[in-house]
Amino acid sequence: MPRQILDRLWERGRAFLGTDLAILGGAMSWISERNLVAAISNGGGFGVIACGSMGPDLLAAEIEATKALTGKPFGVNLITMHPQLDELIDVCGAAKVSHIVLAGGLPTSAAIKRAKDHGAKVVCFAPALVLAKKLIRSGADALVVEGAEAGGHIGPVSTSVLAQEILPEIRDVPIFVAGGIGRGEAILSYLEMGAAGCQLGTRFVCATECVAHANFKKSFIRASAREAQPSVQIDADFPVIPVRALANNATKRFMDFQQEVIARFRKGEVAKDAAQLEIEHFWAGALKRAVIDGDVENGSLMAGQSVGMVTREQPAQEIMAELVAQAEAALAARHGLIQKAS
Ligand SMILES: Cc1cc2nc3c(=O)[nH]c(=O)nc-3n(C[C@H](O)[C@H](O)[C@H](O)COP(=O)(O)O)c2cc1C
Repeated sequence: MPRQILDRLWERGRAFLGTDLAILGGAMSWISERNLVAAISNGGGFGVIACGSMGPDLLAAEIEATKALTGKPFGVNLITMHPQLDELIDVCGAAKVSHIVLAGGLPTSAAIKRAKDHGAKVVCFAPALVLAKKLIRSGADALVVEGAEAGGHIGPVSTSVLAQEILPEIRDVPIFVAGGIGRGEAILSYLEMGAAGCQLGTRFVCATECVAHANFKKSFIRASAREAQPSVQIDADFPVIPVRALANNATKRFMDFQQEVIARFRKGEVAKDAAQLEIEHFWAGALKRAVIDGDVENGSLMAGQSVGMVTREQPAQEIMAELVAQAEAALAARHGLIQKAS
């Protein structure tokens, strides 16, 4: 009975994704490659390859390798500011990728159209209600509403507020809620507010199938929510795009580094543009250093606040079964209450 109610609640999301569960594995650079993506899709969810900085040939190979591991639907996440975005969209088109997620800034109508002309369903990130409406006018087939609790690059508004602002207003397309979700009860509550499904990233990092280095996984298992902090900008003239990550040596050094660079700028030793670029380049290659090389002190440990709910390594399928069981138990408890009251 609870499962039937759950299936009714996320039916729109399941139909859109073509899956048993309306759970998206949020694309994570270096982490969401063939193994984790296939494991999530084979487990009933919807895996998404993170293209990140891959070029067209590497992406084509990753898509083929994923297809070899799963016959279930999966998607590809492309970063809109990638210099070869058009070619990457065409690679997805040639490989008949069913869903393309356009992330990292607002995609142009042209990029959305290019993806749709290939027959793909296009998913975009909506950081505010006006932008959600704009993206739908531009042709987005579904939206992800991701709040500041999430791991990686974040906006300023929390998931709970964004969900309240956007879910009651948008009925045209399915909406998936992301950011800070670690348990099934939270998924259920967003479904009850009108979401079609949810997207989780942090919770999948310690999946057995995930190729992240053992040190990276250990950092997640040890960490509590308060350690997943946004990067700090120290000077209004030198913007820093906020990224939520576990505090480590690198996050401390980033503060000193900004101070040094800005001091050199103030002394006239470096131009403003060059100083800004130096600050932006501080994190270049840092996620790979932590995820692949296991350097958890000098790399970037991008993680969301739900990291405190990551307690052990377990198969992706088991993670999703746990989430579903928690949602079902919450529904059963409510049903019991309703029966008692009547
Ligand atoms: C390590 C890490 C890397 C990420 N990389 C990307 C990325 O390349 N592209 C993207 O759109 N989102 C990226 N994200 C965000 C996830 O796709 C997802 O939306 C987010 O993790 C959801 O919030 P949660 O971490 O609270 O579950 C990343 C998140 C993490 C934790």
